[in-house]
Amino acid sequence: MLIWAGVATIGAVTALSVRYRTYKDYLERKHEFELLDWQTFGARTLLVTLGARGGRALPKWQPGAHLVLEIPSAQGGAVRRAFSLCGGTATSYQLAIACRPEGKLTGPLVRDLKKGLRLTAYAPRNRFFRLSKSRAPLALIGIGTGIAPLLPMARQALAAGRRVSVLYGARDLDSAVLHREFSALAEAEGMGYRLTLSQPAPDWQGARGRIGPEEIAHLVADHPGEICLCGSEPFLQACRATLAALGWQGRLQSEAFATAAPPANRAARISVNGQSFAQGDAPNLLAACEENGVFPFAECRSGQCRSCRVTVVAGEVSTPDGGRTTGAQILACQCRALGDVTLKL
Ligand code: FES
Repeated sequence: MLIWAGVATIGAVTALSVRYRTYKDYLERKHEFELLDWQTFGARTLLVTLGARGGRALPKWQPGAHLVLEIPSAQGGAVRRAFSLCGGTATSYQLAIACRPEGKLTGPLVRDLKKGLRLTAYAPRNRFFRLSKSRAPLALIGIGTGIAPLLPMARQALAAGRRVSVLYGARDLDSAVLHREFSALAEAEGMGYRLTLSQPAPDWQGARGRIGPEEIAHLVADHPGEICLCGSEPFLQACRATLAALGWQGRLQSEAFATAAPPANRAARISVNGQSFAQGDAPNLLAACEENGVFPFAECRSGQCRSCRVTVVAGEVSTPDGGRTTGAQILACQCRALGDVTLKL
C-alpha cells in the first residue's frame, strides 16, 4: 500500500511531502516532538502546539490530516491515538484534544503537561477528509473537537475561491476551542459561520441548542456541492438522516470520534501475543488489549480507518452490526469477545 504523508498547502508548507512505500515503512518512521505550548478551553479541551525536537522542519500535511500520537501507558507501552491537525507552521503542528484527566487514554497526557514534554508521533496523513477540487460551495459541520480538521479545510477552500459555510456546535463559549479563528475568517473572508451553544451562559447572544435539522436545512439552502461532518457517530447519523430527508445530493465525507459499545461479557478471556486476560469493562477488544499491555496499531477508534485489524483465531466476537463472527479479520475497536477468544495481531 502506498501512503502519502501529505501535500501541504498551508502557510510556509507548500511542497510535495515524503512518500512512504509501504504501510510498514510508515509505521517504522516515527518522529520525536516536544510540547511547545498549550491552552485550555473549558474543563476538557486543549489546544497544543508540538514542534520537532531541535526545531527541525516537520513532514508536510494537507487540510483534513491527522497525527497519531503515542501516549505513554501505565502498562509500560504506548497507546496510539489520532488527533486532527487544526494548524501549524513548517516547524510546528497544532492539535485540538478532547481530554479527561481521569481518562485512561488522554489522562496521562493531561497530567504530565509541561513545556518540553517529549512525545512520539507518526507522520500526518489523511484517512478521513480530502477536499475535492470542485469550485462548488462547501459546508463544514463539526461539534466539540470535531471542529479541528475543518479549520484548515475552510482556509484551503476559501483560498481556492470557494464559498464556505461552517456550522459549529459546542457546549459553551469557554470550550469553543476554535471560535476565535472561525470568527476571524468569517469577518475577513465573508465566510458563513454559525456557532450554537448547548449550555450557554445566560448573557450569550448567539444561537442556542444543539445542531439540528433546522440549522442543516439552512446550510443546504446555500446549495453546497460538498459537505464534511465531524462529531460523534450518533451526531453523524442524525446529520445523514437530515440530509437524506432534505433530498441533498453531493459529496459527503465524515469522521466519527466515538461509537457506542456493543454488549459485554466481562469474564471472557482474550489470548493474544502469549498473554491472557479478562475482557472486563473494556468497551472493545482494542481497549482490553491496551489495558493489559498489548498495543495494536490504532488511529480513529471509530471503525473508519481499519488500522486496528486483528484476526480472530479462535472464539467468537460481536460485530458492529450486531452480528457475531469467528475466524475472520475484524476491527478491534469495534468488537468485543462473546466468550474466550484468541487473537492474532
Ligand atoms: S482504530 Fe480505526 S478502525 Fe479501529
